[in-house]
Amino acid sequence: MQSPTEYIRARANATPRVAVVLGSGLGAFADELTGPTEISYSDIPQWPASTAIGHAGKLVLGKLDGLDVAVMAGRSHLYEGYTPSQVTMGVRVLHGLGVRTIVFTNAAGGINQSYGQGALVLISDHINLQGSNPLIGPNDDALGPRFPDMSDAYSAECRAIAQQAGRELGITLAEGVYAAVTGPSYETPAEIRYMRTIGADLVGMSTVPEVIVANHLGMRALAISCVTNMAAGILPQKINHEEVLETGRRVRDTLVRFLKALLPRL
Ligand code: HPA
Repeated sequence: MQSPTEYIRARANATPRVAVVLGSGLGAFADELTGPTEISYSDIPQWPASTAIGHAGKLVLGKLDGLDVAVMAGRSHLYEGYTPSQVTMGVRVLHGLGVRTIVFTNAAGGINQSYGQGALVLISDHINLQGSNPLIGPNDDALGPRFPDMSDAYSAECRAIAQQAGRELGITLAEGVYAAVTGPSYETPAEIRYMRTIGADLVGMSTVPEVIVANHLGMRALAISCVTNMAAGILPQKINHEEVLETGRRVRDTLVRFLKALLPRL
């Protein structure tokens, strides 16, 4: 059977060095590429289809200001029943296509009360509360080390570039620690107090497995959370997915503007 990388190479004549993964309600950036080749996830061999509402489910290869870029519009999550290996397949395939710097976006709950709803936050580090790791199992030493270092998992170099781009565009970017859970239930207020105590500023259900795999492969990773809601128990109201998607739509234009300025500099 054809590998995912072979399948994509046969359809798109592109050598992207930079890729973006777009999270819940944040898919608009995919429309910015010129001369796009769009490949539906359902057509790519072995690729897990994204079933989450707000996730488009396509890989787009095209150009941004003359630069080859790959965009994953939609991702898969552990809560959909996919394995850690499946939710990170896209990262491995992008690496196979030549991508060496990868920008993740996600929707997250704000734990740090200095964040407002709609804030864009650069992830500076993470706490993995998913109870799994995508590197469990035999290690392919040709791809990366058995025990990869994670002390610069969210490339400080890329964050500095992102902060500079943000300043020039007048977009404020906070930085914070992202706690990853599996979901799909949102957290309880007690869980959020616990996460604040252990040093988390944000909580979400994605990104961490992908960042672990990207680091294992020696790629530079950058991740941007959109604070779509304040985490459970912070405001006297319930959290619902519609609110998460609505906030994503609200910051869409800012995020698109930011990514357009950022990618050519990475
Ligand atoms: N918790 C977990 N994941 C999320 C949240 C949240 O509050 N908002 C968006 N993704």
